[in-house]
Amino acid sequence: MTNLEEASLGKKTTHLIKPFFFQLSGNHPELPSIEVLSIMKGEEFQHQVLEKSSQFLLLNCSKLAAIKTAKRAAYCRRSVELLFRSEVGSKTTVNIAKCISEQIDFNKFLLKEDRFKVRVYRIGKVHTEHISIHLEKAIGDTIWDQTKGACKADMKAPTITFIVLFTEKGFFFGREIFSRKKGSFTDRRPDLRPFFKPGTLEPRFARLMVNLSRAKPGEYLLDPFCGPGGILIEGAIIGCKILGSDLDKRMINGSKKNINHYSPSNIAGFVLSDAKHLPFNRKIKAIATDPPYGRSTSTYGKDIEDLLIQFFQNASQILQKDGIIAIGMFEEVPLQEIVEKTGFILEHFEKIYIHRSLTRRIGVCRLK
Ligand SMILES: C[S@@+](CC[C@H](N)C(=O)[O-])C[C@H]1O[C@@H](n2cnc3c(N)ncnc32)[C@H](O)[C@@H]1O
Repeated sequence: MTNLEEASLGKKTTHLIKPFFFQLSGNHPELPSIEVLSIMKGEEFQHQVLEKSSQFLLLNCSKLAAIKTAKRAAYCRRSVELLFRSEVGSKTTVNIAKCISEQIDFNKFLLKEDRFKVRVYRIGKVHTEHISIHLEKAIGDTIWDQTKGACKADMKAPTITFIVLFTEKGFFFGREIFSRKKGSFTDRRPDLRPFFKPGTLEPRFARLMVNLSRAKPGEYLLDPFCGPGGILIEGAIIGCKILGSDLDKRMINGSKKNINHYSPSNIAGFVLSDAKHLPFNRKIKAIATDPPYGRSTSTYGKDIEDLLIQFFQNASQILQKDGIIAIGMFEEVPLQEIVEKTGFILEHFEKIYIHRSLTRRIGVCRLK
């Protein structure tokens, strides 16, 4: 968000702490909420978790934090300012609309020239007795009544969107403040980048890694196995000063080319270096990385384990206290042991399905 956008939202309302809910992607039970909370921590946004369940997070935070976080998060579909919540019970669809209308003074939210849209979503197959289009219309009718027809519905170009989200706990009603457009990551697909090598991360997954590292815009983000720069591109786009290193000169050059294409002003530097002996000092708080693959049953795998131990030892010398390494790896790598040997705490260790023949692990490790 630019300063101008921030200013136009109005400091008073954007900094007020109140409840916002985040509708998260369903491709992992834990990582999407860990991601949102990692961003909040990294950006030092004041927040408090009120409720957390699969694909759903209800937080107390500022509007600015809710917008910026949802915008950054790879696995967040939308963030919504909570206006009202209730159990569904035996309410009919019309009752739900009535109940919302009794609680909300829409004239407070809508100006004469506003065009609104109401959308109904659900997490899982809950409360399917309430057909989305019927409820959307019923709520639309109550808004029309309340505003005496001054505000019209506009499904194509609304100025304000109201959301009903059904979960197992009931329904949550609010005003959408951010929604992710379809394809917002695919325009940076690896094969569309100026330099392409197989093995680079997909942008959405790379963004997740950056966010899990709690990288903060304006601060350094290092990928010591940078390859073609999949992670660094996402780090640069969110405004981090990116540092890349790799053993392979072609990767360094390719990575530079890629970042120059997407976000040239955020390159802090590249070095040709072994990740076991990184030439950086303790200015770094965030490392997001994806080392070479290998399975610990093979000799190559054993090499990977040794490489990771030495990399973690070296990283413990260059990271600030409480600095984070977000790392992707094969399932078999004994990350818990590596982390314990090298002075880190394993905060999260999650399995993620990539495709039929590939499951990966993601570790979030904090320096003690
Ligand atoms: C899986 S790729 C990284 C992909 C990258 N994270 C991305 O998203 O585009 C692994 C990289 O590690 C590099 N590498 C292997 N051993 C290394 C070492 N000891 N030190 C530094 N880089 C190394 C390889 O050259 C390769 O580019």
